Amino acid sequence: MAKFLLVSDLDNTLVGDDEALRHLNQQLNQHRKDHGSILVYSTGRSLASYAGLKAAKQLLEPDAVITAVGTEIYRDGGDQPDPNWSNKLSQNWDRDLVVATTAHFADLTPQPDPEQRPFKVSYFLTQEASVEVLPQLEAALQERGLNTQLIYSSGKDLDILPSHADKGEAMVFMRHQLDMPPARTVVCGDSGNDRALFRTGDERGIIVGNARQELLEWHHANPSPNRYLAHAACAGGVLEGLNHFGFL
Ligand code: GLC
Ligand code: MG
Repeated sequence: MAKFLLVSDLDNTLVGDDEALRHLNQQLNQHRKDHGSILVYSTGRSLASYAGLKAAKQLLEPDAVITAVGTEIYRDGGDQPDPNWSNKLSQNWDRDLVVATTAHFADLTPQPDPEQRPFKVSYFLTQEASVEVLPQLEAALQERGLNTQLIYSSGKDLDILPSHADKGEAMVFMRHQLDMPPARTVVCGDSGNDRALFRTGDERGIIVGNARQELLEWHHANPSPNRYLAHAACAGGVLEGLNHFGFL
């Protein structure tokens, strides 16, 4: 069994079933010791919010953590984001103009301050309102020549990011830096902001059994032979998928 790179979402993917996570962690820990496998978390949370979750759930110390929906990369427990990635994202990104544009939309409620990041502007938006608001907001941002993308998750969270930044772009960036081929890379997720992880379809993908409709619908519309739909929920589904692909 050889080394692999695991890039996994946290909330409702790795985290959500403590017993299953304990079991998965034992196996991952062993594989890291024996084969040098690499563990990367990819979360929508800020670094501070991630740190709280990590302590509460006794998550394994990862090799890197990608926070704020792919917009910040931290390696080896450091607290300074990878400057190469930040520099890349700062091209063609005008955060103030993004915020000014959203001010015209009454249905958008800003998320708490700590979740507002240099390359991520986040709101709460109801599912009902999203049907009309998302296309209108998209058009308004485009009219101003802003290179953004809208990511809507869990029927409530709206993230506005630079068009070249999301969980998928950050994963590919890391994969290249670590020199890991797609066939030895596995990505896992459960919700809308994880779609980007599965986008290329080249890496091995695990969708956990408790995935949200928004991800399942996308999966059925964009099938890939490299993607596995697990039966088990959360960490149990990740373990099931790792066995399916023969990584463990
Ligand atoms: C996390 C973040 C939030 C974001 C959501 C979806 O919950 O805290 O800011 O909107 O993920 O990406
Ligand atoms: Mg999740």
